[in-house]
Amino acid sequence: HETETRSLRTPIVAVLGHVDHGKTSLLDKIRGSTVIEGEAGAITQHIGATAVPLDVVSKVAGKLVNPDDFDLPGLLFIDTPGHHSFTTLRSRGGALADIAILVVDVNDGFQPQTVEAINILKQSQTPFIVAANKIDTTPGWNPEMDAPVQQTYEAQSDRARSTLDSSLYELIGELSDAGFSADLYWRVQNFQNNIGVVPVSAETGEGVPDVLTVLMGLAQRYMREDMEIDVAGPGAGTVLEVKEEKGFGTTLDVVLYDGTVRADETIVVGGMNEPIVTDVRALLKPRPLAEIRTEDRFEKVDSIAAAAGVKIAAPNLDEAMAGAPVRVVRDREIEDVIEEVQAEL
Ligand code: GTP
Ligand code: MG
Repeated sequence: HETETRSLRTPIVAVLGHVDHGKTSLLDKIRGSTVIEGEAGAITQHIGATAVPLDVVSKVAGKLVNPDDFDLPGLLFIDTPGHHSFTTLRSRGGALADIAILVVDVNDGFQPQTVEAINILKQSQTPFIVAANKIDTTPGWNPEMDAPVQQTYEAQSDRARSTLDSSLYELIGELSDAGFSADLYWRVQNFQNNIGVVPVSAETGEGVPDVLTVLMGLAQRYMREDMEIDVAGPGAGTVLEVKEEKGFGTTLDVVLYDGTVRADETIVVGGMNEPIVTDVRALLKPRPLAEIRTEDRFEKVDSIAAAAGVKIAAPNLDEAMAGAPVRVVRDREIEDVIEEVQAEL
């Protein structure tokens, strides 16, 4: 047996919400701000997953985040599409997201997939914050690029502010109807009992420092103990997608939430008929900020540790399923690992 290496992994943050409410834009803004500041190398953009290290979080959040207050390594964001596949993924994967951002268009309020998302979060008891997005579309809004929200909010005309206020209070009311006591995040004392609402614009970056600050604080304060893992242990993850990749055949886009996967290791993956036992042929990590669909941008790595997004190439993956568990066998009995995978299907 190898010695245990306890370490703090990156919390996994799912970004959920109704179609077009701005989930991807919000993530783009978090990534983009750092590109503009010449920090491209500091961000790893994985498959459907973007790892944002603590120093980048603190750079984007400005004076709101002091890196000395945190020992978690950053945040791993999972962007989700507006369609139903993530529901299946959530109900099967269970433990995938540690915390979540529910993105709601502040003008549109609750929509069908907002309700669906909130039910998933309720059922899985995942702590979350609400990003009340698109505040820049408030009539008369005078944007202050990338500013903390309270600063820009105070600087607005009375009229713009009260228009935004009524949308925000409507949203807080809808959250209350859904069974959550919510308030503007700066009025929330205890984030375990109350949902913090962060007014934000993925377009102007206003409130983005606040979103990162609240997430980091939530993770550090309430999730830290759950983040202690044996990083050297056998990897465990969830399949996000099963995809053809030129030159590699069928591959798995996986979010790894525990341990390590190494190239050449035997893994067990949930399949349509039965668990698939196969050997990793390649571990592929998209290069920092690469367009993930361009196959020549992938970097072959020897091993990867949680939490991370990674593409796994291996034989016999045709029957693998999105949402299914993936386990590295390492020094365990294959039969035990197969049972473990079956139990999670
Ligand atoms: P799906 O992935 O399809 O569920 O959508 P999404 O939630 O990822 O939304 P996306 O980020 O693709 O944004 C949808 C549209 O809203 C795009 O045209 C964005 O430019 C626009 N948008 C997103 N955020 C903002 C914002 O804060 N302000 C404004 N004005 N437009 C925004
Ligand atoms: Mg999107």
